Amino acid sequence: MINFSGKLCLAPMVRSGELPMRLATLRNGADIVWTPELVDKKLIQTTRIINSQLNTIDYIYNDPQNVRHKQSVVFRTLPNEEQGKLILQLGSADPELAVKASLKVIHDVDGIDLNCGCPKNFSIHSGMGAALLSTPDLLCSILRDLVEKVGKPFQKSISCKIRLLDDYETTRSLIERICQTGINNLTIHCRQRQMRNRQDIIWNYLPKLIPYIQSQGISVIINGGLLSYQDFKHLQTTLQNDRIGGMIAESAETNYSVFNKHGPSFQYKNVCQFFNICKLMNQDGFPNTKYMILNQVPGKSPYYAKIAKCKTYDAMEELLQEDELKEDKFFSKIFIRDLTMTKFYKDSKEFDEYLKERKSRWEPLIKSYEDSETVIEPVVIDPRNGGGGGDQKKSKKRRNDDVKVELNGKDMGSMFKKSRISESTTSVNV
Ligand SMILES: Cc1cc2nc3c(=O)[nH]c(=O)nc-3n(C[C@H](O)[C@H](O)[C@H](O)COP(=O)(O)O)c2cc1C
Repeated sequence: MINFSGKLCLAPMVRSGELPMRLATLRNGADIVWTPELVDKKLIQTTRIINSQLNTIDYIYNDPQNVRHKQSVVFRTLPNEEQGKLILQLGSADPELAVKASLKVIHDVDGIDLNCGCPKNFSIHSGMGAALLSTPDLLCSILRDLVEKVGKPFQKSISCKIRLLDDYETTRSLIERICQTGINNLTIHCRQRQMRNRQDIIWNYLPKLIPYIQSQGISVIINGGLLSYQDFKHLQTTLQNDRIGGMIAESAETNYSVFNKHGPSFQYKNVCQFFNICKLMNQDGFPNTKYMILNQVPGKSPYYAKIAKCKTYDAMEELLQEDELKEDKFFSKIFIRDLTMTKFYKDSKEFDEYLKERKSRWEPLIKSYEDSETVIEPVVIDPRNGGGGGDQKKSKKRRNDDVKVELNGKDMGSMFKKSRISESTTSVNV
């Protein structure tokens, strides 16, 4: 049975988390990788084939409605590299379908993870993803059936990935119910349902939630805003718990080498290596390769527009071989996406310095609430001063509720709002 304790994982990502990304992250030190969410009904309709040319196992879907592309690969795995490290994430809102879909793939994966955290419409429209957080009876019945009918008979892991609910108490009660279902791992994306990825994470529930989950014999993985292996290690040290696992999504989507213990590589090297993996292995064709490569190309670089214009693998290969690309000032740096903002570092040392400075900002905030009996409610903070789009009003309004946090008399900023307490400043002495 796969062991999640202390492991650093690639998050499930629709469009981005297919085989090329999983291989790239595994080759750079990721311990465990998640597939993107795969919907039960679709998985059930696939046919399993052994692809002897690529040494992969492919699950093929024949779409009778689609005349042009009759066949598509819904799920592809390379057992030589993924065996023992692969979790398939399932989208489901029905215990029977969930079991049927899981039984279909269970021999080719190391565990099934139920998606209970994705707030996107494609997931919640039929009661799946984050919608399950509002139907805990259904959520728990799917998990119980998966544990009894898939996990136990095949000795495979059953887990789920959730988001935080609106306050600590309701989050805690949901987690207590989930822990009774027999699952062996729980991933917590430390944002609430309405929050977007550009918004800061909520880590002040963790000191209380993690010991409870671990005391039930269930491992816990923390997701949200983690930038790299070093960042994950800082979180473990702060929480003084090296059994906590970590999970990275967006930062890996931009720079898959963030899993590397020795620090991330320059973007030129990353992009070229990733292109080679995609050319050979990508099941979703050139448009998806271009989408993933463009996620790794700094928008400020002149090469962004050039790559966006490519229509074939050959055209892109030719472009990537240009000598000027190596010299491009953006490609010869470490490129990191931090809360959807673009940042560049001249080398790993400079990136490390940033991570240390970042740690020094959030560490006291996590620690100060460790033994607190008071429930701390998080405030949604948009790092772009209120941000844009639909979240702008909400963020600005909430900003007015912010409470200044002082630690040992020092102003620690305004990350959290203290529940039901009206004072505008909270002093904490540690
Ligand atoms: C492109 C993309 C696709 C995603 N698809 C899924 C998904 O299929 N299932 C899921 O549970 N979460 C999905 N997520 C959410 C991530 O797994 C993760 O929870 C979220 O991005 C927060 O992690 P981060 O701060 O490291 O980005 C997706 C995120 C991105 C950026």
